Amino acid sequence: MQIFIDTADIEEIRDAAAMGVIDGVTTNPSLVAKTGRPFQEVLVDICEVVDGPISAEVVATDYEGMVKEARVLAKMHENIVVKIPLIPEGLKAVRTLTDEGIRTNVTLCFSPTQGLLAAKAGATYISPFIGRIDDIAGNGMELVEQLVTIYQNYGLTTQVLAASIRHPVHAVQASLIGADVATIPHKVILQLLKHPLTDIGLERFLADAKKIPAG
Ligand code: E4P
Repeated sequence: MQIFIDTADIEEIRDAAAMGVIDGVTTNPSLVAKTGRPFQEVLVDICEVVDGPISAEVVATDYEGMVKEARVLAKMHENIVVKIPLIPEGLKAVRTLTDEGIRTNVTLCFSPTQGLLAAKAGATYISPFIGRIDDIAGNGMELVEQLVTIYQNYGLTTQVLAASIRHPVHAVQASLIGADVATIPHKVILQLLKHPLTDIGLERFLADAKKIPAG
């Protein structure tokens, strides 16, 4: 499973990239707004740090507007993948962009039928929002499983990008199901790494190292 980092914070991206654990980045307007910086400036910085797919979302909701924004974003850097919302106009935009060779990440997926149609339209990635489904007492992971199965059944090449991941169990389950990618916030990436026995073990080794006589 590939791991993308789900943030627009360049320091978080630098930190995860330095550990060598991320294959790409996803952003959305809420994440970019949190940085307090202009959208394109943020994207330029991210493209300098990570050599992998970088999702950048359009804000238009009509076909013409989405295609126009997408073309501008795609021209900025070869690694930009354009995020398009899962609405009828969005799927029309995905079809056009796919035909032009522009990669898309179809976002805000909450049902298998939406995911099937996004794949038919030619989406490069589909983003099921696990955490937001769990938030309303649904089962977000079941959607990931359904999408993986549907795409496998029919040889659809759209990649399942597990999104809205809130904790390590989401990441483990997504990888067991066979999601192609999981996009994970910086805080959760660090949680994936954390183990109390590692910390206790290291503390003991360092304490014992001090008892070793100098040679
Ligand atoms: C994915 O691309 C989205 O940016 C993100 O995963 C949404 O996560 P949230 O539901 O925690 O906001």
